[in-house]
Amino acid sequence: MMTTEEPNRLRAMIAKLSGLSIRDRYNPYQTFKWPEALADEQMWMSADLLTTHGTESDMPLDEAQRQRLSRWESINFYSLNVHGIRELLAEVVLRIHAPGYEDFSPFMHHFIGEENDHMWFFAEFCLRYGGKLYPNRNVNFGQRFSGRALDLVTFAKIQLFEEIVDHFNMRVAGDSSIHPFIRELNGVHHRDESRHIAFGREMVLWLYEQISREGDEALLAQIDEYLRGYMVNSVTQLYNPIVYQDALLPGNVYERRTALLQHPARRGAHRAIVRKPESFLLKHAMISKPVFAD
Ligand SMILES: [Fe+2]
Ligand SMILES: [Fe+2]
Repeated sequence: MMTTEEPNRLRAMIAKLSGLSIRDRYNPYQTFKWPEALADEQMWMSADLLTTHGTESDMPLDEAQRQRLSRWESINFYSLNVHGIRELLAEVVLRIHAPGYEDFSPFMHHFIGEENDHMWFFAEFCLRYGGKLYPNRNVNFGQRFSGRALDLVTFAKIQLFEEIVDHFNMRVAGDSSIHPFIRELNGVHHRDESRHIAFGREMVLWLYEQISREGDEALLAQIDEYLRGYMVNSVTQLYNPIVYQDALLPGNVYERRTALLQHPARRGAHRAIVRKPESFLLKHAMISKPVFAD
């Protein structure tokens, strides 16, 4: 049950996050000093974030292959960001002034503005240094929800997307072996996302309380399964056969993808990628079990 203090607490939290957005506002078109080029002979993302990490005793890579892979996996990661942001923006724009969202809409304006900036700088990175965006391979899960339940799964997916991305941003931003410009881009995104994640968690809990009060166990079970499926899908998308092809890795790239996805050494990485949002959802009983079995 929402107590009488609850709407006040929520409004205060949203006012605080909006104030932080105003304080930290930057012009993305002026903030970054884009290097003319980024050399191939370096790591573009942290070695322990690569989809091959931990598997090299079975599937060895030389240094040049690892560096090329880091370049194309980072272009794939930023491309996934661009597609994910475009899709989440559409959903937030649809709801910003819908009835019931009055308390949330002030921050949604900041959210939309900031995400447009992110979509621009991630796309700019891909086009400047990769010459392309990887196409959107996202299969839209069948539409099973409606009304408030649809709102819940929509905002929960946004939340999961942002928390999963943040796992990568934080690691790269703090990795002194990575080019300072790449670290800066990841660090700026992480700073904005810390506000979005705080907001998103409140929003998801607010929606979940409304749904769970109705006590429709079958619906709650569907939501549980759907959210766990979404997390599995998010991890799976990191393994892109075209990336392995662009990195000139030998052999059949589809077979490589399957072998890597199923490699026992990758299980720890998969669990780490979803750890934070998974524990949030488990804590609030929105999911019934961990995403990846032991
Ligand atoms: Fe973002
Ligand atoms: Fe965000």
